[in-house]
Amino acid sequence: MTHQDGFETLAIHAGQEPDPLTGAVVPPIYQVSTYKQDGVGGLRGGYEYSRSANPTRTALEQCVAALEGAARGLAFASGMAAEDCLIRTVCSPGDHVLIPDDAYGGTYRLFARVFAGWGLDHDVVPISDLAAVRERLAARKTAVVWIETPTNPLLNIADIRALAEAAHEAGALLVVDNTFASPYLQQPLGLGADVVVHSTTKYLGGHSDVVGGVLVMADGELADRLAFTQNATGGVAGPFDSWLTLRGIRTLAARMDRHCRNAMRVAQMLAEHPAVAEVLYPGLPSHPGHKTAQEQMRAFGGMVSFRLLAGEEAAVRTCGRTRLFTLGESLGGVESLIEHPGRMTHASVTGSALEVPGDLIRLSVGLEDCDDLLDDLRQALSG
Ligand SMILES: Cc1ncc(COP(=O)(O)O)c(C=O)c1O
Repeated sequence: MTHQDGFETLAIHAGQEPDPLTGAVVPPIYQVSTYKQDGVGGLRGGYEYSRSANPTRTALEQCVAALEGAARGLAFASGMAAEDCLIRTVCSPGDHVLIPDDAYGGTYRLFARVFAGWGLDHDVVPISDLAAVRERLAARKTAVVWIETPTNPLLNIADIRALAEAAHEAGALLVVDNTFASPYLQQPLGLGADVVVHSTTKYLGGHSDVVGGVLVMADGELADRLAFTQNATGGVAGPFDSWLTLRGIRTLAARMDRHCRNAMRVAQMLAEHPAVAEVLYPGLPSHPGHKTAQEQMRAFGGMVSFRLLAGEEAAVRTCGRTRLFTLGESLGGVESLIEHPGRMTHASVTGSALEVPGDLIRLSVGLEDCDDLLDDLRQALSG
């Protein structure tokens, strides 16, 4: 497999050569913990113990690395396990990191409640404001600038290329959480980022049936250090989870095209709806990050957030009235989901600089017939 192959080809073939023993066209689930050695130290294909490496996980890691244009990929038991491995490898107690003022609540909780106790200091910064980021970098030696784009749940857009430049000038690494975009829509390493994080639980897995995470990185030496921590701390993806994630990835491009199409129609309908105060979707020309998103993304993704004129209680009631949009956390599956971030996914940021508006509703727009989705939202909003 070469990197000249297109995205869809890599998604189906990278890391997934037919099994040399049987010709199985899909990588088998190597549900195994240990491997017979041909004499002491005589490993077959580098496999000795499945925390260190497992062939099904290797297939997933090679595929994701190819999709992101990376030197290497590493697969974990969850997105949070991937984040934990990354920070413990590239930071030390006493270091300082910049994190977004709008981000997944669990990421904030990891910095504020776990790494703070380890001695890692963080500052919160609006990552769509390049001048603000530069100012913070000038004020204090910083090890990592951590961004999401689009952000969860407010769909803010950060300029990856400009932030990579600013971070590198200050001697910091730029980490991009690419979960909302997926590698089909956006490839941050090509724009200068050092490490990309995914919760593969979302679009990469795509079917709400597996929890996982990956790290991909541009630099081989950093990859070796991260692989060392991954093995030393052990938060790896199991063989069946790796297999499910890889199965999802094969259809990523086709699914993302439809997610984007449906989400655009949902955003346009909501923008015209009298009950809606504001629609947050980078595909709308009115979105402040629209131009940057157009430059660095293939399309605008399947996530749409919006605010209700009638306030928080009305938002909570609306979330309970949909028929097809299932009330639930997570995102990126084939089925549409609705949630109230303030009381659900982002409850952990209440009272912090990352607190989200109470009248906010977040949608993960799925692959159902879009007319049905529009009808469902209209009836929920008029209820
Ligand atoms: C943007 C983002 N990053 C990271 C995570 C954490 O991933 P996981 O739930 O797989 O641990 C999530 C989970 O919702 C997320 O939305």
